[in-house]
Amino acid sequence: DASDIEKGTYPHYMLKEIDEQPLVIRKLIQKYQNENGELVIDEDIINAVKQADRLYIVAAGTSYHAGLVGAQMIEKLAKVPVEVHVASEFNYNMPILSEKPLFIFISQSGETADSRAVLVQVKELGHPALTVTNVQGSTLSREADYTLLLHAGPEIAVASTKAYTAQLGVLSILAAVLAEAKGHTLEFDLVQDLGIVANAMEVLCNAKEELEDIARKFLSTTRNCFFIGRTMDYYVGLEGALKLKEISYIQAEGFAGGELKHGTIALIEDGTPVIAISTQEQVDLSIRGNVKEVVARGANPCIISMKGLETEEDSFVVPTVNELLSPLVSVIPLQLISYYAALHRDCDVDKPRNLAKSVTVE
Ligand code: AGP
Repeated sequence: DASDIEKGTYPHYMLKEIDEQPLVIRKLIQKYQNENGELVIDEDIINAVKQADRLYIVAAGTSYHAGLVGAQMIEKLAKVPVEVHVASEFNYNMPILSEKPLFIFISQSGETADSRAVLVQVKELGHPALTVTNVQGSTLSREADYTLLLHAGPEIAVASTKAYTAQLGVLSILAAVLAEAKGHTLEFDLVQDLGIVANAMEVLCNAKEELEDIARKFLSTTRNCFFIGRTMDYYVGLEGALKLKEISYIQAEGFAGGELKHGTIALIEDGTPVIAISTQEQVDLSIRGNVKEVVARGANPCIISMKGLETEEDSFVVPTVNELLSPLVSVIPLQLISYYAALHRDCDVDKPRNLAKSVTVE
């Protein structure tokens, strides 16, 4: 049960929380379904969001990465412009706002001081705010006008895993419900597609041995590692890099595939691991082109693709899901690879050095 705060037979909370993800997504579907099985969001919330001419997502760390994906979902389905901002930057450098902005704060803990500082400013300006959080009654939830809950159960490990996928789940539901409220017809059934995601997550959670081997092969001795992807896969790469660096202390960076040639490719040496993610048909060839570029400079490529786009050279293939929801599944191999890399390096997986679960100072 995802509401359990005991580790049980798991060696680490992080592994337990990774494994809970299929359950969390299934529970989320239930929590947001009405008696007819349709996904619903409180009418007040949808009306407020519907009235906005632009949405501003503000968050930090993993929640910021979820915001990047969520913005794409909302723009693609509901056709509303969305900006995504790092809270600590927005706080000191507020952009010129649209006429009718609505703010969405994404925060697992609901206690992140950087995000709260923005919320305080936004409230002073009189703009509406919605908090997407795992903790009912948290500061960000109490101080915003509206709250959407993640229902992920307590997340104990410092490295966020199930909260990230739950954030993506909630944002996909918000995008779909908003789209319908705005009169756009969806070409897919989100309940069904999130169900497919939950099943795919289960398959991935059962691939631990394979992913441990990948971690051993690519990351046991390296000092650094790059993640590349395009569009959705780029955002997942950012999250993969954050996960890896925070728990294994391997210097890791996520890049947009097309940006490599503008500087980063200079860092590629013989044996540098490059984890490339390809789940988006539109950019599959371009990202594979980027892989060739780094391989020509000696990189050790690890391609993670989605079934249907896979080739023989790929190291790992995730099951097919709706492309818009692919980050919910492609992040799981990255979480598990990070977990095993940290384990192999004798790192304290659940309590990495210098980090706190919720950052309550600015
Ligand atoms: C995630 O693995 C990190 N520990 C961290 O980036 C976290 O996501 C960030 O501090 C934001 O926290 P919040 O979601 O509780 O606001």
